[in-house]
Amino acid sequence: MQNPFTLNFGKEPLTIINRQTAKNQIVEDFTAPIINNQVYIISGVRGSGKTVLLTEISKQLAQQSKWLTVELNSTRDLMTALLSKLYDLPAIAPLLIEANIDLSFFGIGVHLKTAAPIVDIETALSRVMDLLQHKGYRLLVTIDEVTNSQSMREFTAAFQILVRQEAPIFLLMTGLYENISDLQNEDSLTFLYRAPKVFLSGLNLTAIMGKYQSIFKLDEAQAMKMAKITQGYPFAFQLLGYLKWQQPTITDEELLTEFDIQIQEYVYQKLWHDLSPKDQSVLIALAKLANQQGQVKISSLRQELDMSSSLMSIYRDRLKKKGLVDASRYGYLSFTLPRFDHYIKLYYLSH
Ligand SMILES: Nc1ncnc2c1ncn2[C@@H]1O[C@H](COP(=O)(O)OP(=O)(O)OP(=O)(O)O)[C@@H](O)[C@H]1O
Ligand SMILES: [Mg+2]
Repeated sequence: MQNPFTLNFGKEPLTIINRQTAKNQIVEDFTAPIINNQVYIISGVRGSGKTVLLTEISKQLAQQSKWLTVELNSTRDLMTALLSKLYDLPAIAPLLIEANIDLSFFGIGVHLKTAAPIVDIETALSRVMDLLQHKGYRLLVTIDEVTNSQSMREFTAAFQILVRQEAPIFLLMTGLYENISDLQNEDSLTFLYRAPKVFLSGLNLTAIMGKYQSIFKLDEAQAMKMAKITQGYPFAFQLLGYLKWQQPTITDEELLTEFDIQIQEYVYQKLWHDLSPKDQSVLIALAKLANQQGQVKISSLRQELDMSSSLMSIYRDRLKKKGLVDASRYGYLSFTLPRFDHYIKLYYLSH
């Protein structure tokens, strides 16, 4: 039988834990009869399930009548790509031709003898959106992994204008916190500051336990022990299940060793090298001071790092938004990612 778990990123896994709350919030907002909010940003650390959630929402909306969905690649020219993908939708091309909208200037469709080609891309988008509005359509545009690029800036600025014109366009984006933050700091794009954001937290441990229990025929205590190792981190849920499925008789100790090796290769190494040296030093201190429960008093951390409380709160806030630390217990910090402290201790703390 096929392994029910996967180590692939960016694809819906066979065994999935529902993120019902986040999904409903976005879908309900976008499908509300009176349009109020047209943009959502999904953020979270690598492997937290951003792409999977984006895909699920896009599929769910695509199944509803009068919804069109278009997926754009953030590294391309987004405006032309959007026009061209709309033109490729079987429901739309005939409508454009019927309405005499000629996009041949952009290399899209054929030149219509009855109309002059539109030569300005924003005008073209406006015209198309008017038409969709008139026909009662709503359009979902999804962009995975946004960065602060020229084409992203142009597109987001154009989107803002379309929203002002009451176009039925909805934008769902995902990105790492640092990239989103970079983009919304652009002078012309401050409206992104106000855009609602969903920060992906861990998956429900009871739900994880349930999956392990039924797939591996374990009792509750054994399954919960495995679930706790993952700390709800989606990639860890897949990885631990994957390894156990491959070697059903593996000992707990061997399973953990294998888990450490793989998670380092797939995620932690890259994640670590993307951090600033200062962020790294805060995390090293956190790993050093963590007690059995993984909790560290912020005051001890400050002392260890010789850091002022205002500077500490900046780092705490940033590491929290990046999805690396949990600050939910007042006055304490802990790691959100499973065995990340172990990884740091092994590589960056001399014994
Ligand atoms: N709801 C979920 N239930 C179970 N597994 C999940 C869920 N969401 C994501 N995963 C698993 O977690 C891993 C990472 O998912 P995904 O690729 O969506 O992360 P990401 O946040 O987009 O990562 P990156 O920042 O690297 O693009 C994949 O192996 C995926 O199968
Ligand atoms: Mg992704």
